[in-house]
Amino acid sequence: MQLLDGKKILAEIKEELLQKVQTYVQKGSRPPCLAAVLVGNDGASQTYVASKEKNSEQCGFVSRILRFDESTTEAQILLEIEKLNNDPSLDGFIVQSPLPSHISAQKVFDAIDPSKDVDGFNTLNTGKLAKGMNSFVPATPLGIVELLKRYKIETSGKHCVVIGRSDIVGRPMSILLSLPNATGNATVTLCHSKTQNLKNFTLQADIIIAALGKAEFLTADMVKEGAIVVDVGITRIEDKTKKLGFRLAGDVKFDEVAPKCSFITPVPGGVGLMTIASLLQNTMKAYEQRFSTLNS
Ligand code: GUN
Repeated sequence: MQLLDGKKILAEIKEELLQKVQTYVQKGSRPPCLAAVLVGNDGASQTYVASKEKNSEQCGFVSRILRFDESTTEAQILLEIEKLNNDPSLDGFIVQSPLPSHISAQKVFDAIDPSKDVDGFNTLNTGKLAKGMNSFVPATPLGIVELLKRYKIETSGKHCVVIGRSDIVGRPMSILLSLPNATGNATVTLCHSKTQNLKNFTLQADIIIAALGKAEFLTADMVKEGAIVVDVGITRIEDKTKKLGFRLAGDVKFDEVAPKCSFITPVPGGVGLMTIASLLQNTMKAYEQRFSTLNS
């Protein structure tokens, strides 16, 4: 069993991005700039956004966080998005979800200029992905593809079972793996809460992507010998023995599943860090596309 080490690959990607930024800056360009919009006080969102900021600064990007009170209206957020769309010093931005229930997340994502939509949540980017066109791809599924690629894990002809059909992970993951290209060409089964006999599918899988958001759901009896298991889950479980009062659990019962796997991602230290890596890569892509458009 080999660990798919998100920490190591994130460090590699950050080093590659830093080199690129230094080259651009030496030639007289400004560095790439990423902003995050954060509405309300969700604890996990605060942690994610802080980590995105730290990592983007470590690869030479300029980072901004725009914080808004829980009671901010949808109209106020849409106005802020308009400002960010028109800000030439900014290459890409994200609106951290979940948003408060009085704000329509999709309306907000669709207000983002598609060329700055580094989370790939805008409907235009979603449609382009489905057609295999150049687009911004949501960072978690893109990070998983990157992780498999860097460990030279072939997807062509493999049976990949994705568990979970969310807009930001499961569905785009199923599309990416089925695209006719070097990191796709898989036979994909997309399982979800209405799937019957889930175990029948997972037992046939060469690659399992567990993205249903239920702590320690995937157990050893559901996994075939030698499978590759990617764990997208990250649930806080109360644990009074920990300093923060919780521990993090994935969607996979790691201790019993890992011995059966050829490769498996740890939680933490796996997919979560690859999400950050892909967001940074998407920001570099937005920056490069922006300047190639300006210079053409
Ligand atoms: N909430 C959970 N994951 C994500 C993500 O990748 N981007 C944003 N904007 N919000 C999230």
